[in-house]
Amino acid sequence: MHDILKVCLGVFCLSAVWSQDLQQVMGIVGESITFEIPNLQPNTEITWRYGPISAPGNATPIVRIINRTIETVHERFKTRLQLVNNTDSLRINNLQEADSGFYQVEEFRKNGFLKKFQLTVYNPVPMPHVKKMNGSVELGNRTCTLLCSVGDPSVVTVSWMIDGKSLSTTQLKLTQGYNVTYTCVASNPASNQTVTVIPSDYCLDKGHGAVTQCNHYIVIIALCLSWLSL
Ligand SMILES: *[C@@H]1O[C@H](CO)[C@@H](O)[C@H](O)[C@H]1NC(C)=O
Ligand SMILES: *[C@@H]1O[C@H](CO)[C@@H](O)[C@H](O)[C@H]1NC(C)=O
Ligand SMILES: *[C@@H]1O[C@H](CO)[C@@H](O)[C@H](O)[C@H]1NC(C)=O
Ligand SMILES: *[C@@H]1O[C@H](CO)[C@@H](O)[C@H](O)[C@H]1NC(C)=O
Ligand SMILES: *[C@@H]1O[C@H](CO)[C@@H](O)[C@H](O)[C@H]1NC(C)=O
Ligand SMILES: *[C@@H]1O[C@H](CO)[C@@H](O)[C@H](O)[C@H]1NC(C)=O
Repeated sequence: MHDILKVCLGVFCLSAVWSQDLQQVMGIVGESITFEIPNLQPNTEITWRYGPISAPGNATPIVRIINRTIETVHERFKTRLQLVNNTDSLRINNLQEADSGFYQVEEFRKNGFLKKFQLTVYNPVPMPHVKKMNGSVELGNRTCTLLCSVGDPSVVTVSWMIDGKSLSTTQLKLTQGYNVTYTCVASNPASNQTVTVIPSDYCLDKGHGAVTQCNHYIVIIALCLSWLSL
């Protein structure tokens, strides 16, 4: 009976440890990230190690913390590490792309680690911009095509959206519905930027009315002339 209980407890504890094995976190270049860990006993000594993505096993100590005070910091993170609000949680400021990798925290003279994080740092997403593409006529209908793009599309996903649903295209081809609002979203896994447009701002030929009016005047003048010449 007791043995079965022990086995069950063992399995429970193991699965609890495994489930918090590795926590995925994302950051943005220039911003900060906080690795949250539960508060430890007072006077606990802990070490954080960093291992690059390419060689996660090659983890080097980057900071030693005793009694919630930073004692020694690796040159690379100097001035960028702090403990948050007098807790044991560690914050990295002014993130760089090269900070991506594995971070694990260990208690001094204890086997294994308390917690392990995988950090991925992304560049900030640029603002998308919208422009009208050259007009075309399809099956007798005049279409207006709005193109949404960003400077560097290789690291960002761009798509038009309507009512919160992605249209999975960067080219919005319209023959009507110019008064509906559409949103273009540029995103990477860490953040996004949006631009909202009303196609009529781009698609309605602003000069058209004036031209028609002008034509009207020409017609009237022509009529007058032909009337006078009678
Ligand atoms: C740990 O820090 C607390 C307050 O930050 C302090 O009162 C205590 O004396 C410190 N313990 C040691 C061993 O330095
Ligand atoms: C730190 O404390 C400030 C206010 O004292 C609070 O606004 C902030 O959310 C706290 N940060 C964390 C990570 O707990
Ligand atoms: C689109 O218009 C620009 C000038 O407005 C012109 O240079 C370009 O050749 C046009 N492209 C097509 C495909 O018609
Ligand atoms: C052309 O316009 C008509 C009426 O607005 C519409 O019913 C038809 O589907 C359009 N054709 C295309 C190819 O967009
Ligand atoms: C679209 O907006 C324009 C001006 O804002 C208005 O004159 C026109 O009636 C609107 N069309 C529709 C279908 O709502
Ligand atoms: C954009 O980011 C916000 C949070 O920053 C998120 O709530 C939203 O769902 C994102 N939108 C898209 C379209 O990814």
